[in-house]
Amino acid sequence: MNDPGTVLWFTGLSGSGKSTLSRLIENELRDRDLNVEVLDGDEVRENLSKGLGFSKEDRDTNIRRIGYVARLLSRNGTITITAAISPYAEVRNQCRAMCGDFVEIHTDCSIEELTRRDVKGLYAKALSGEIKNFTGISDPYEAPESPEIRVNSETQTAEESLEVILKWLEENGTIPAKEGAEEAAA
Ligand code: ADX
Repeated sequence: MNDPGTVLWFTGLSGSGKSTLSRLIENELRDRDLNVEVLDGDEVRENLSKGLGFSKEDRDTNIRRIGYVARLLSRNGTITITAAISPYAEVRNQCRAMCGDFVEIHTDCSIEELTRRDVKGLYAKALSGEIKNFTGISDPYEAPESPEIRVNSETQTAEESLEVILKWLEENGTIPAKEGAEEAAA
């Protein structure tokens, strides 16, 4: 298959819901018999990017690797979902330019809420200075100005965000409308 391919590129702060939503979309698209693969930030850092840290240079290298693999997978017909913070707009846009159909999805959430949740306990460590260069606390996060999709994990449940994303993908022809949906709506 030589279609340009589709990349669903999540970007957002740590704990903002990128991985959760990626897995929900992955399951939903698999159920619809679509080929799908997830390049999750934490998993990529365990494998493809082992040894890289969190300097701008290392983050950019990490993101370029993810973009490169996403390009290879997507151009072979696999819908590729990436879920790394990808804090810098420039390198995100380089990945956009490399890939065919690129759908940027911003998982928005305030720092106050992420610090309150602090699922991994990293925000407390970042605030105390134990972890340096932590995105959103002591390192930059450049939110996308006009992503294709923006969801908000503070005001929406994961299921609500999932619906927003699936609706956008269907309406824009990225994925076929769910079979039976038209009959159900009629
Ligand atoms: S990225 O900046 O290169 O896109 P990536 O998504 O791979 O980041 O990794 C982010 C994850 O690494 C976070 O969810 C968190 O668990 C962990 N982490 C450890 N140190 C940091 C840090 N200084 N800044 C952000 N995340 C960190």
